Amino acid sequence: MNGYPFNRRRATAAHLPLGERRDARFYGKHILSVSQFTRTDLEYIFAVADEMRIMVERVGTFDLLKGKILANLFYEPSTRTSSSFTAAMERLGGSVIPINEVRYSSVAKGESLPDTVRTLEAYSDVIVLRHPETGAAALAARYARKPIINAGDGTGEHPTQALLDLFTIREELGRLEGLTVTMLGDLKYGRTVHSLARLLALYGARINYVSPEILRMPREIVEELERQGIPQREYTMLDDVLAETDVLYVTRVQKERFEDLDEYEQVKDAYVITTETMKRAKPAMILMHPLPRVSEIALDVDLDPRAAYFRQVEYGLYVRMALLAMVLGKA
Ligand code: NCD
Repeated sequence: MNGYPFNRRRATAAHLPLGERRDARFYGKHILSVSQFTRTDLEYIFAVADEMRIMVERVGTFDLLKGKILANLFYEPSTRTSSSFTAAMERLGGSVIPINEVRYSSVAKGESLPDTVRTLEAYSDVIVLRHPETGAAALAARYARKPIINAGDGTGEHPTQALLDLFTIREELGRLEGLTVTMLGDLKYGRTVHSLARLLALYGARINYVSPEILRMPREIVEELERQGIPQREYTMLDDVLAETDVLYVTRVQKERFEDLDEYEQVKDAYVITTETMKRAKPAMILMHPLPRVSEIALDVDLDPRAAYFRQVEYGLYVRMALLAMVLGKA
């Protein structure tokens, strides 16, 4: 006996079981933009998401967030984001106040976003917000004492989608370094690519932007990544970069954001991925899409094992479970 029967090393969060960890970087914090994350943060989120996946596969539902309430406040249509936050909360044993149809709520009477948020936080522990205006989540966060999670603010950002997109790449390709990522379609209005490009920059990706002239990636994002030394190139033809692409990320042309619908008509079918397109792509690449798909990927491409978009949906559940547990101090 050496007099020290116990291991006296101080336990760090990673040594504790889920539910007994409280990471100060996330507990009680808002999730507004991907710019708030470092690589260390991302690795932590992904490690927790991995654990969530194992738990869902083993037991389905468990009581990590028992008694916690999520307010799901959606001012814009949503299928995946809204229902995956609901599923995430319920798989963790918590419950949800769903406000999907703001036209049936007091918003229709002219209530302001800060007032709606200050009301909902009296009933809940965390608020997930989707709103048509860029900056809406940041505005809500200025008034809220409870964590706000940005589930898409206009053409601004969609941070939780970008986190699940990155998690998908990590799971599917086994790495995040040294990748060539091609973003295709509506890069101007598509908020998912705005967030994803910023996250990829942390891993030194080479990024190709392929879009119609009027739907190019916003200059401020290109310049932001340029300052970080990220190689970025812009094209109008997918074939210029398809053969070198490890991740092809396709987006829907965001009809609802166009002021002039004639312009939408001109570009809505600019790119369609078919089985022929896939023949020219790398055997080990993946094809992603945040969904909903309209016509930009032909249905028979779904049978190609490289089509990752429905797996991407499933990864979203684990990432959102991780985020909820983290902001509520249980991971
Ligand atoms: C995206 C969105 O809402 O920005 N959908 C999603 O959350 N998966 C993409 C889109 O609407 O095209």
